[in-house]
Amino acid sequence: MTPVKLRVNGTTELLELDPRVSLLDALREHLGLTGTKKGCNQGACGACTVLVDGERIAACLALAVQYAGRDVTTIEGVGRPDDLHPLQRAFVREDGFQCGFCTSGQICSALGMLGEHRAGMPSAVTQHLDADEIPLTEAEIKERMSGNLCRCGAYEGIVGAIQEVAR
Ligand code: FES
Ligand code: FES
Repeated sequence: MTPVKLRVNGTTELLELDPRVSLLDALREHLGLTGTKKGCNQGACGACTVLVDGERIAACLALAVQYAGRDVTTIEGVGRPDDLHPLQRAFVREDGFQCGFCTSGQICSALGMLGEHRAGMPSAVTQHLDADEIPLTEAEIKERMSGNLCRCGAYEGIVGAIQEVAR
């Protein structure tokens, strides 16, 4: 076992972990933060997306020990039931979920994606790489969110919610 100091949603947590434990399992099994979901557990569905220092990562592919001392944000740190983040409110308004299994990952991924777009990072469908500002079109949102699958097919609402917040 290895002592690991994780900073999650603004709180420092001291854990004793097998160095092979993924960040996802550390969050869910050791800290009880079950908002982050385990779908494929192999980096293919996006259900486990969390933010590390504002950037999105698949927590199932990360070892917890790699992230000691970094700022990890899970859906529990994005908003609370009585104080939703604007993106969470937009998901409700736009009908961006059905079963909700993918929603935590979708929201964390969207927050990271909006940050990448604000920083001027292009995507695979960006037309003009030298443009001062990349328009956040529907095609851009779909491409940038393509790592997050929704088995209920709530994609229209998800894109609508992101467009609403990006405006
Ligand atoms: S559970 Fe991590 S990408 Fe599917
Ligand atoms: S809302 Fe059910 S998987 Fe996306």
